[in-house]
Amino acid sequence: MDPKCINVNHFSQGSYAGYDIRFSSQSDDELTQVSPYTPCGEYLRRFWHPIYINDDLKDLPVALKILGEELVLFRDLSGQLGLVHKHCPHRLASLEYGKCEEHGIRCCYHGWHFDTDGTLLDAPGQPKKLNENLKHRIKLGAYPVLQYKGLIFSYMGPIGEIPEFQIFDAMAFENMEMVPYKAVFRCNWLQVLDAILDPLHTSFLHSNIGRMQFSEGFGEVGQMDFFERSVWLLGVNTRRVGDLVWLRVNELVLPNFTQAGSAFAADGTERRLYGRSSFTRWVVPVDDENTMALAWANFGERGDPPEWNTPDGPELIEQGEVFNRNYEERQRSPGDAEATEGMGSITIHKNENLVVSDRGITILRKRLREQIRAVRKGQTPARAHRAESGCIPTYGGDTILRISRSGDHDEAQILSNLAHSFMEIQYQADAMNEQERVQFVSEKLIELEASALG
Ligand code: FES
Ligand SMILES: [Fe+2]
Repeated sequence: MDPKCINVNHFSQGSYAGYDIRFSSQSDDELTQVSPYTPCGEYLRRFWHPIYINDDLKDLPVALKILGEELVLFRDLSGQLGLVHKHCPHRLASLEYGKCEEHGIRCCYHGWHFDTDGTLLDAPGQPKKLNENLKHRIKLGAYPVLQYKGLIFSYMGPIGEIPEFQIFDAMAFENMEMVPYKAVFRCNWLQVLDAILDPLHTSFLHSNIGRMQFSEGFGEVGQMDFFERSVWLLGVNTRRVGDLVWLRVNELVLPNFTQAGSAFAADGTERRLYGRSSFTRWVVPVDDENTMALAWANFGERGDPPEWNTPDGPELIEQGEVFNRNYEERQRSPGDAEATEGMGSITIHKNENLVVSDRGITILRKRLREQIRAVRKGQTPARAHRAESGCIPTYGGDTILRISRSGDHDEAQILSNLAHSFMEIQYQADAMNEQERVQFVSEKLIELEASALG
């Protein structure tokens, strides 16, 4: 062989298509742009969203961005919360440097004083008549804000259309310790939201790639079934682990409320009846390229075990990994942040190749688009409503039944039938209060187990 010549001819026998594949650069703006006056931003502004952790708000105002809008959140000396436009309407100083007063906030620059609803209370140094006139004429933009179980929520839509504050059943379970947490993602909101309707990723990202982030049972791929029920979009992953069948329900309530099963309470090796989600969570856009998940991690018999109620616990539950790691650690054991941020700040959907297991993603995008268009036409978006019990029922959780494999029957079909039966049982209990619901669902699951065995 001539030492000055390296033969490259064999490369042309391969499938190297690096040069031939052309990518689109056109993003799906209708679903991904969230700033004021964009169609998706307008849709999202018809709902209450969590924006901050109550304990993190101390005596000073904080600057934050939600739905592409720069804002300042504060608590005045009387304990009232205020969420206002960042810039003072006088000469645009930032109210993050303002002073919290007994009622409202005072701008640092010339002392204009605003109430929590944005009313101008005083413009010092002006003739009395002008001061009175300004109070009628000038308003600081403000949004309604409330605190619930350690999370601060706001509604940023038209004030005449303010909806009821939604209380989902999981926000009021007995004997559940709810620990507020926040996770930051440097990418578009839809990438973060997508993952909840992508049960397959758990088997790879959190199990077979890198290290087992939860337990071995998650590594089984299982049967996947998707359900649409009003504004609920549900993905049920049904896996066989020996003589047990593990039904794990991932849940999204439009537009951005999510729950799943537990991270550590269930691994498919022990029977579990009607366990519920280890997190109760909203995916909130900061701007087009940044997102926050604000949530409670749920600890107790029906959530994750109390021993995971540690500083790291909610981080592991949220992403399968702790948040602040160096590049090498993130490469060796990637979690949800690495998967979603690695797609780029805004994924170009045209460059994807969606397959059967992505059906949940397809449904989600279609339903979101419908709702965004409805709001654009002036309609009220579809919202989850309270059942007769007074709460909004949710379905995310784990159930593990003892059902042996039955001969040479079609296993995938059997698992799918179980998923359908399980969801039907839960729907039948929608109107019940929680105590009745737990009893009803548990009894029906025991019957289902017995009939599947029989
Ligand atoms: S800029 Fe705020 S009072 Fe002047
Ligand atoms: Fe995940």
